Amino acid sequence: MRHLMNPLDFSVEELDKLFDLAADIEKNPEKYAHKCEGKKLATCFYEPSTRTRLSFETAMLNLGGSVIGFSDAGSSSAAKGESVSDTIRVISCFADICAMRHPKEGAPMVAASRSSIPVINAGDGGHQHPTQTLTDLLTIRALKGRLDHFTIGLCGDLKFGRTVHSLVNALARYSDIHFVFISPEELRIPGYLRDTLWDRALSFEEVIRLEDVMPKLDLLYMTRVQRERFFNEEDYVRLKDFYILNRAKMERAREDMLVLHPLPRVNEISVEVDDDPRAVYFKQVQYGVYVRMALILTLLELV
Ligand code: NCD
Repeated sequence: MRHLMNPLDFSVEELDKLFDLAADIEKNPEKYAHKCEGKKLATCFYEPSTRTRLSFETAMLNLGGSVIGFSDAGSSSAAKGESVSDTIRVISCFADICAMRHPKEGAPMVAASRSSIPVINAGDGGHQHPTQTLTDLLTIRALKGRLDHFTIGLCGDLKFGRTVHSLVNALARYSDIHFVFISPEELRIPGYLRDTLWDRALSFEEVIRLEDVMPKLDLLYMTRVQRERFFNEEDYVRLKDFYILNRAKMERAREDMLVLHPLPRVNEISVEVDDDPRAVYFKQVQYGVYVRMALILTLLELV
């Protein structure tokens, strides 16, 4: 039995197979409409979510399965003090697979170690968010036709943004990727990630100004400042509008640069950018359903 805690849990070859499956699901959805009949997905969300939880649920329903779960720790037995280990043992009696989001780093991993069903990390604190990364990679592959030879800018909250940490881990395995980390001093990538990049002799730079690097980017990954992970509101208020991608900045970008964002967006992308054909963040959401369908089928060994 396999779990998914980190995008590196799948080899590059396995990811290729997963993305091929997701592409086939996009083309032939009817072929997969009954694959999960009789199966149940549990979504255990101890932290807010719109896209991740609903796209998991949509994915399972599209496969003919059903869904149980909770979307708020306060409505689960966590409010009575139940541990994640106990909860997953209970959920294992009800469901065939579980997607779990938790504010504590490592909580889904603790659950996986006690579980008798596959557990998917749907975001653990400021740590990892592997299924967002699968979504991001599938989007890039579908729209650019490849996952190598890119200069990618990651902009915003690189310290607390788990989608950034997972995406950097995953992209680091493809050839000729140059990372441009764009953040205020206080929100730079964590030291452990910088060390990994150094150790593996990967090509990266850290800058503060978005404008200056726009012309050289093939991909721009914008992120929200993670208010819920700040220790004080004052710092958040000072940093929240540090970057605002607008039409003027987009004019400096390449004709074929793509703008991605895991969403939710707050102010970091002005709505005037939404109509730009290079803005693909809403397309990403659709790819997120296909890739989660492929993931559920893979972990349940139904392919
Ligand atoms: C992200 C998350 O939860 O980390 N959202 C998502 O799942 N698409 C990004 C964010 O909340 O900023």
